[in-house]
Amino acid sequence: MNANIPKTVNPLKNPLKGTIKVPADKSISHRAAIFAALTRKEVLIGNFSLGADCKSTLSVLEQLGVEINFQSENNLSVLNKKGFKEPKNILYAGNSGTTIRLMAGILATSSFTSSITGDESLKKRPMGRIINPLKQMGANISAEDNDTKAPIIIKGSKLKGIMHNSQISSAQVKSCILLAGLNAEGKTIFREPVKSRDHTERLLAYLGADIEVEDTKVKIKQSELQSKPISIPGDISSAAFFIVAACIIPDSEIVIEGIGLNPTRTGIIDVMKQMGAKITILNQRIECNEEIGDIKINYSKLKGITIGKEMIPAIIDELPIIAVAATQAEGTTIVKEAEELRHKESDRIKAVCLNLKKLGADIEEALDGFVVHGKTQLRGNCVLETYHDHRIAMTGYVAGLASLKPVKINEFNWVNISFPEFTDIFAKIIH
Ligand code: S3P
Repeated sequence: MNANIPKTVNPLKNPLKGTIKVPADKSISHRAAIFAALTRKEVLIGNFSLGADCKSTLSVLEQLGVEINFQSENNLSVLNKKGFKEPKNILYAGNSGTTIRLMAGILATSSFTSSITGDESLKKRPMGRIINPLKQMGANISAEDNDTKAPIIIKGSKLKGIMHNSQISSAQVKSCILLAGLNAEGKTIFREPVKSRDHTERLLAYLGADIEVEDTKVKIKQSELQSKPISIPGDISSAAFFIVAACIIPDSEIVIEGIGLNPTRTGIIDVMKQMGAKITILNQRIECNEEIGDIKINYSKLKGITIGKEMIPAIIDELPIIAVAATQAEGTTIVKEAEELRHKESDRIKAVCLNLKKLGADIEEALDGFVVHGKTQLRGNCVLETYHDHRIAMTGYVAGLASLKPVKINEFNWVNISFPEFTDIFAKIIH
C-alpha cells in the first residue's frame, strides 16, 4: 500500500438515491476463515470480504498449510486436512490487528515455533494486551519492546485456562484468549468492562464449541469444532459511511441490503437515531447465529449528543464518520472515554480532528475523544491525509461530498484495506 493514489472528491449537487449492498463483514470474514481452519474437514464460506485485511488472514493460514480455494469471487473453501504445519517464513499480517491478535491465540497452542509481524502501522500497535494474558495461561511468547510490539515470537505449548478480567473492552483481545482457551486445559473465563463485538462467541457456538456467555463474561472449554457452511452478512462498519452520507445530504433516501445487525455492532444506528436520523430496519432475520437485515436511511435534521463509555465499543470503528455527522448537527456533540481510538490503524482522534479542521469544522481534540460544535458548512478546497488508515480515507470522502468546494485526499488507496469497492458503490447512488 505504498503508492500514493490521490482522489479528488467533488461536492454533491443531488441527493443520494438507490439500493445498494456493501461487502462482507470484515470481522466475521477473519473469524470464518480462521475457525474453518480449526476443523479437519472442508468448510464453505459464502460472501467473504475481499479487502486486504482478510486476504492477510488467508495468506497467514496458507503459510500454515491450510488449503484455500476460491469457487467464485466471494465464495471459498477452507481445508486444513492435516492440521497446521510449521511455517517456513515469518507470518505476515499486513495492516490487520485482527489477524495478528487472533492468530497469536491459536499459535500459542501449536506444536511448533512461529513468528508473526505486520506493516509499519501494525508494528506500532499494542500487543501487551494479548501477550500478558497468554503468558498467564503458560504461553511461551515474546515480542519487541519489552513484549509489547510485533514481531511476536511464539513457541507453541500446552496452556491452562485462566480467569482474565480485562481492563479494556476489545474483541480482538477477547477472541485471542478464547481461541487459546479452546485448546487449553480446564476452563477459560474472559470478562470485559463493556461488551465488545461478540462474533467469536456466536460463530464458535454455531460450530459447536463448549462456550457460555453471561453478559460481559464468556467461559470456554477445550472443544472440537464441526465443519458447517458459513455465510457472512454485509459489513455495518462499511455501511456506516453510506448511512451518514444519506443522513447529511439533503433529500437523500437509500436502502442498504443484507447488513449484519448484531446488537454489539449497531451502535451507529442507535447513535444516528439519537441525533435525529430517520432509519428503518426491514426484513430482519438470523443467519449463522447473526442478525441480518436491510436498512432504509432518509436525510434528516440532526442534533448534537453526548457519547461515552457504554456506547464506545459498539461504535469504535464508526467514530470518525460520526464526527462528520456531528459537523452537520445543530448543537454540540461530545465524544468521551474513547481513548482506544488512539490505538487503531492511526491515532484516529488526531487524524479526524486535523482533517475536519482543514475542511472548516469547529472540532476540538480531547485526550479521550473530541467535541464538535455544529452545524458548519464544510468549505472543502483543501488536501486531506489518510494517515495510512482506511477509515480516515472514507471519512474524508464523505466529508468531501458534503463540502462546498472539491477536496483532494492523498493516498486514498488505503481504502483497499477493508473496502476496495467503496467509490464504485457510491457511484451507484450519486446522480
Ligand atoms: C475488531 C475489533 C475492534 C475493531 C477492529 C476489528 C475485530 O478492535 O476496532 O476493526 O474484528 O475483533 P478492538 O476489539 O481491539 O477494539
